[in-house]
Amino acid sequence: MTQTADKAETFTLTDNRTGKQVTLPVMKGSTGPDVIDIRKLYAETGCFTYDPGFTSTGSCESQITYIDGDEGVLLHRGYAIDDLAEHATFPEVCYLLLNNHLPNAAEKEEFESILRRHSMVHEQLTRFYSGFRRDAHPMAVLCGVVGALSAFYHDSTDIEDPVQRKIAAHRLIAKIPTIAAMAYKYSVGQPFMYPRNDLSYAENFLYMTFGTPCEPFKVNPVLSKAMDKIFILHADHEQNASTSTVRLAGSSGANPFACIAAGIASLWGPAHGGANEAVLKMLEEIGSVDRIPEIVRRAKDKNDNFRLMGFGHRVYKNYDPRAQVMRKTCHEVLSELGIKDEPLLDIAMELEKIALSDEYFIEKKLYPNVDFYSGIILKAMGFPTSMFTVLFAVARTVGWISQWKEMIEDPVQKIGRPRQLYTGETKRSFVPLAERG
Ligand code: CMC
Repeated sequence: MTQTADKAETFTLTDNRTGKQVTLPVMKGSTGPDVIDIRKLYAETGCFTYDPGFTSTGSCESQITYIDGDEGVLLHRGYAIDDLAEHATFPEVCYLLLNNHLPNAAEKEEFESILRRHSMVHEQLTRFYSGFRRDAHPMAVLCGVVGALSAFYHDSTDIEDPVQRKIAAHRLIAKIPTIAAMAYKYSVGQPFMYPRNDLSYAENFLYMTFGTPCEPFKVNPVLSKAMDKIFILHADHEQNASTSTVRLAGSSGANPFACIAAGIASLWGPAHGGANEAVLKMLEEIGSVDRIPEIVRRAKDKNDNFRLMGFGHRVYKNYDPRAQVMRKTCHEVLSELGIKDEPLLDIAMELEKIALSDEYFIEKKLYPNVDFYSGIILKAMGFPTSMFTVLFAVARTVGWISQWKEMIEDPVQKIGRPRQLYTGETKRSFVPLAERG
């Protein structure tokens, strides 16, 4: 087939096999590339499209997050991520993602109070933890416990009821830090800490993670500010693998707790949320600055499947705007903690410098992404590597649930069901066991 751009609002495809033409509508967003509406393509041509990895396929209409990967722009409901990270708090960003506007003072207070009131988990849910091996990866625990929420909160699983949808969203955002902190506590054998309503969202998470019942825990304001920023930077990122997983799971009518558990599973992989853990492991393996050239050589070698973790992005072909904020936050945290010589940071900065001036990375537009610096900050704050992706999941829960709500409320949404290019055997006769070679 060949394509020709038609006047303004349509796109014409010519089937070179038959000479038949099909004209498809072009949809326009408020900004960003136009979209060719191919919903009638199969009916009119008998052909499907082929797009593994969805590199050219829009799966939905959305008003939540906009990314211009070439320019390194990320907007939530129109607000730039660096502005939000600088001036807003994470609960304000949650409210924004859910409601399409920043809260005024009264709305902010009410929303924060709702989150506080929902932050405890059902007491029986705590028993789930003892069913896991002590050395279970906290992402495995998170996935299981979040999925189990649907067995506890029956009054917010009716997806047809807008009030129940809202309550489910609030419950998930409020409880996920508690569940994540409990996963950590279980892994180190310490008692679970109940949430404290006098603390902010980020402070409370640090308290539930690092506090113990034996002594008062004072939250360091620089660290809680950094935690809040890290949450903001990970809050949403439009139709990435985990968000698309949540939408696809939700498109069948599954309840929101089950859908978020599916998102957590998808986030776990090293090409997605697992990259922050993989970056730190990579930096530790590099071990010293003089080994960087060898590592860069490996990353460029076509016959070696090693990749520089924390570099490259499907959408950003420029510096990830989240990485810029993360880099600054990293220096603030290390300075607050009095860490002057952090060999991993030295390796990271040298690696970034070398990679950014290397022809291979320049040509392929491989820049540091959000995960490149986050691991160093989280390690300095005292989180074990295995918790890094869990923190990503805590922050992304608001993005997932906002996208899920938008999908449920979208009148054109239907069950997600991709097509395929079948290249297997065509119909053949059954061979009885005795006749099989
Ligand atoms: N190191 C070395 N080469 C790379 C890297 C890398 N990190 N990333 C991509 N390339 C090369 C790749 O080999 C390919 O080369 P060629 O065209 O010669 O075959 C080219 O760049 C394009 O790569 P791709 O795999 O087709 O690109 P993609 O859009 O499918 O993958 C990615 C995006 C993020 C999975 C990939 O860049 C990657 O694996 N990066 C490392 C993992 C990582 O940091 N992930 C975190 C992403 S940001 C957090 C999040 O949103 O989840």
